[in-house]
Amino acid sequence: MSSNENSPLKGMSTRSVHAGEQRDKPQHSLTTPVVFSSTFTFPETEALVAFMEGREERVEEYGRYGNPTRNAVEAKLAALENGQAALLFSSGMAAATTTLLALWQKGSHVIFTNDCYRKTRQFANEVLGKFGIEYDLVAPNADAIEAAIRPETSIIFTESPTNPYMNVIDLVKVVALAEKHQIKTVIDSTFATPYNQLPLDFGVDIVIHSATKYLGGHNDLMAGCVVGRHGIVGLIKDLQSMLGSVADPMSCYLLARGLKTFALRMKQQNENGQKIAEFLESHPKVLRTYYPGLPSHPDHEIATQQMRGFGSVVSFEIDGTIEDGSTFVDATQIPYIAPSLGGVESLIEQPALMSFFELTAEQLEGVGIKQNLIRMAVGIEDAEDLIADLNQALACI
Ligand SMILES: Cc1ncc(COP(=O)(O)O)c(C=O)c1O
Repeated sequence: MSSNENSPLKGMSTRSVHAGEQRDKPQHSLTTPVVFSSTFTFPETEALVAFMEGREERVEEYGRYGNPTRNAVEAKLAALENGQAALLFSSGMAAATTTLLALWQKGSHVIFTNDCYRKTRQFANEVLGKFGIEYDLVAPNADAIEAAIRPETSIIFTESPTNPYMNVIDLVKVVALAEKHQIKTVIDSTFATPYNQLPLDFGVDIVIHSATKYLGGHNDLMAGCVVGRHGIVGLIKDLQSMLGSVADPMSCYLLARGLKTFALRMKQQNENGQKIAEFLESHPKVLRTYYPGLPSHPDHEIATQQMRGFGSVVSFEIDGTIEDGSTFVDATQIPYIAPSLGGVESLIEQPALMSFFELTAEQLEGVGIKQNLIRMAVGIEDAEDLIADLNQALACI
C-alpha cells in the first residue's frame, strides 16, 4: 500500500499495475485469475473449525463474503486511494446506498449536498424519507453544510466535482466542520478519481466511486467501490454481506484489467479535458464553459488546491435553443450519444434530454439545468481530432 514507506509501489501507475496482486499466482499465471466459484472448500473438518475459531485466516468462505478476484481488486483500490480497506459492489449506487444505510444510526440526521448524483438524491427523497430518516439537501459549500448541522447529524454526504456544472467542494473546510461536530464524512469522488484527488488524505472517512466510470474506463462493466479505514469499511461490509450487492468475479476481472492503464488514461483524459474546455470557451457559439481547470470556473481556486488534474467532463452552453443543441450533438462524428463518463470513448449528451428528460422547462429551471446545456465526457481520443469534430459540428448551428 502506498502509505507503507517500504513498499516499492509508490507511483500511481506502478500501483495501478501491481498493487493488490499476489506475486506468485495459481498455475504461474501472470494475471490474477477470474475465480468463478460461489463457495470455497475446506480440506477437512479441522480446517473448518480452525477458520471458525479464527485460528486460520482466509477471506474466502462463500462468494457473498469474499472472492479471490474481488479481494485482489479491492486491495488495489485501497492502495490507489491511500485507504486501509476497500469493498467492491455491483454498482456505484449499491456502494452509496449500502454505505448510507450502514452508517446511519437510529434517530440521526443526514446532510446531502444538493447537486450530488440524481439517483442518490432520489434515494434520500424516496427511500430514506419513507423510513422516517431525517435529512437535508443543501448547497455544495461549507457554510450551507454548517448551517444545516444539528446535534443529531451523523453523516455528511457530498460529491466533488459534481455533475454537470463541475462544482468543487472545499474538503479542508468540510472535514474541519465534521471533526468539530463528530460527524462522518462520505464523498462520492467518481468525477475526480484517485489520480486527481485523495479525499482520505484530507481526513474524509469514506470515499465512494462508481467504478463503472473512470476506474473501469472502458464502458464495459458496472461496479462501485467504498474505501476507508478498516473499522468503518468493516461496518459497511457487514451490511453488504446481508444486502448482497457484491461485484461478480468477471466484472472484478474487467475492472482489474481496466485499472492497469488507469494512470495513463487519466493523464490523457485530464489533458483532453483541459484542451477541449479551452477550445469551447474561446468559441463564439459557446456562451459559457464549465470546467474546474478554467480560471473562469467559480471553484477553480479550490480545485487547484486540492486536485492534481480536473478530469474530462466538460459542460457548456451553446448560443441557441434545445433544438440547436440536438443539431450540434447529431452533427458530431466521434462522440457517441449516451449517458455515463470516464471511458475511453467520448460521449456527448444534452442533460435536458437525458437525465432530466421528464422535467418541464420550468422544472428544469428550478433544478438549474439549462436547455442549451451540453455535457461532453471526453475519452482518450486525440484532442486535435475531437476539437476538429466539435468545430465542424458547431458550424452546423
Ligand atoms: C457521480 C456518480 N455517482 C454514482 C453514480 C452511480 O453509479 P452506477 O451507475 O455505477 O450505479 C453515478 C452514475 O452515473 C455517478 O455519476
